[in-house]
Amino acid sequence: MWSSTATSQPVLVTGGAGFIGSRLVRSLASAGHHVRVLDDLTTGRPESVDAIPGVTLVRGSVLDPDAVAEAARGTGLVLHLAGVVGMRLAAQQSAYAYAVGHDGTANVLARSGDTPVVLVSSSAVYGLSDSAAVLREDLPLDRAVPLAYDGGAPGYATGKWEMERLGQQAAHQRPVLVVRPFNVVGPGQSGRYGMVLPTFFRQAGADVPLTVHGDGTQRRCFTDIDQFTRRLLDLAASDAAWRPDGNVFNIGSTTETAIGDLARLVLDATGSTAGVVHVPYESVFPGRTDVTGRVPRLDRLTSAVGETDWLSAAALVRKTAQAQQGGAVAAGR
Ligand SMILES: NC(=O)c1ccc[n+]([C@@H]2O[C@H](COP(=O)([O-])OP(=O)(O)OC[C@H]3O[C@@H](n4cnc5c(N)ncnc54)[C@H](O)[C@@H]3O)[C@@H](O)[C@H]2O)c1
Repeated sequence: MWSSTATSQPVLVTGGAGFIGSRLVRSLASAGHHVRVLDDLTTGRPESVDAIPGVTLVRGSVLDPDAVAEAARGTGLVLHLAGVVGMRLAAQQSAYAYAVGHDGTANVLARSGDTPVVLVSSSAVYGLSDSAAVLREDLPLDRAVPLAYDGGAPGYATGKWEMERLGQQAAHQRPVLVVRPFNVVGPGQSGRYGMVLPTFFRQAGADVPLTVHGDGTQRRCFTDIDQFTRRLLDLAASDAAWRPDGNVFNIGSTTETAIGDLARLVLDATGSTAGVVHVPYESVFPGRTDVTGRVPRLDRLTSAVGETDWLSAAALVRKTAQAQQGGAVAAGR
């Protein structure tokens, strides 16, 4: 469906100036692809891509159909990542987050011809899951599931659900692949919009207590940005992944880490003695319920592209700490 061998046809990456997008852009460019980035730079940073040879950054929104059409012209693959990301930002701008998920995807699908499209959705479509839930891609997900996660009004998760619905409709006419990332972290991620690991690093660096929501027993599977990027591109290059009856893939580590334990790992890695402060979830996100746990089933990913030896949370914290200190980013397990 898409050959990872570089051709004259560029790859379009929407949201390509962001954390995950810029890693994908770098990886594609280093394999010789021409890459176009369409990004409105709300959270993305132009400096993350503008010095990479073979990359053209177009400042524009996926909400602008003409900008999408122009950016998608002649492309051999579209990676659609533009989104309003980070719990804090997505909660503050929930209607906009929904619009970018729904309308932005509608524009991308309508204005990119029959080019293969990878839609980057989210594990948030699984809603208010717990650690015991079996999060398989073929689990039927009603719209009420992400809506509950959004606190009852359509927001980020419902927008991603709509993204997937539109994608599945389009998959009858053209190649569509959907991926659901689980808590992707690593060097370069910003803490400004509510992402937990960079927030902890910023707080530890400033020697202020790390803010843990609730009692800190809520658990997440933290996934290395470089491993995530590789697996996504492996899927895109695998013909089997594009079959309309099996084109949705979880991508992420399956090892859960409690947020309280993550805070301790960051304190240890940075040598900070700031400690933690517990803040009621309700006071940070009124009207919303926190997810207690979220573990992906990876049967589909593994059968499409093989096993992944995911980095542990401890290794991810070390990797991020080393990158912050300007040291080598290689991390042991
Ligand atoms: N980081 C994670 O753990 C995670 C988890 C699940 C899903 N995702 C999805 O992966 C994608 C990338 O996330 P990220 O972590 O790199 O976040 P990010 O905020 O760094 O990247 C999002 C990018 O989209 C851009 N953008 C926002 N609205 C836009 C618009 N209307 N038009 C064009 N560009 C726009 C931003 O400027 C930014 O560069 C998002 O779609 C997100 O929903 C990420």
